[in-house]
Amino acid sequence: MSKTEVFAHRGASSYAPENTLEAFLLAIEQGADGIELDVQLSKDGVPVVIHDETVDRVTGQSGFVKDFTLQELKEMVVLRERFAKYRDARIPTLREVLDAVRPSGIAVNIELKTGINWYPEIEKKVAAIVEETGMKDRVIYSSFNHYSVQKLKSIVPDAETAYLFSDVILRVDDYAAKSGVDGLHPAVYHVKMAEFLSEYLASGLKTRVWTVNERADMKMLIDAGVTAVITNYPDIAIAVRDMM
Ligand code: G3P
Ligand code: MG
Repeated sequence: MSKTEVFAHRGASSYAPENTLEAFLLAIEQGADGIELDVQLSKDGVPVVIHDETVDRVTGQSGFVKDFTLQELKEMVVLRERFAKYRDARIPTLREVLDAVRPSGIAVNIELKTGINWYPEIEKKVAAIVEETGMKDRVIYSSFNHYSVQKLKSIVPDAETAYLFSDVILRVDDYAAKSGVDGLHPAVYHVKMAEFLSEYLASGLKTRVWTVNERADMKMLIDAGVTAVITNYPDIAIAVRDMM
């Protein structure tokens, strides 16, 4: 059984503003095996790394990401009040993040945020940036919008992909395998409900569970041999793993 990997959810997001270069570089410093990030499109069609469809929660300003140009988004500061040490963090583009993390060798889980706004051509734009930055072999694509995952696959047939889900789906492992997807990314609360985790592991699909922030859950999942835990506390997950 190979070692469970630790993916930093939106970067080391308990210690630095989520989805910023600062959070991703800190995750690398902490020794994470991978980072997870969320991609949406700016008004001028640039893939940018931000979780919500609006800028409100992380910038204190108001409006949809899709209604701001990249330049306008760059003028906003992320989570200035909460993270005093990182007072000038900005919304990065996907390209900036991939360029910044490439030298470390870390893996990148790109979550396509196409559940509320299905941005035109987002899959094509993201795949092109991944190709241009030389990150193709280190990227895993995921989405709650499974059509979006399939669209990405139609553009990059050999891309590594996974279905995200937060509710229980009937025989999701069969469905994923039949539709050519490599992995399952279930929510932590759902794998604790019943025998779902053993089904996922038995399927042979890569199983990366999110968002695993409690030590007991980290231990249970590492013990069970999941492919990865996706956590806001990569340092703690690494320490838990190293103690086992
Ligand atoms: O990719 C795992 C996780 O990030 C999915 O949920 O809402 O945190 O993007 P969310
Ligand atoms: Mg995400």
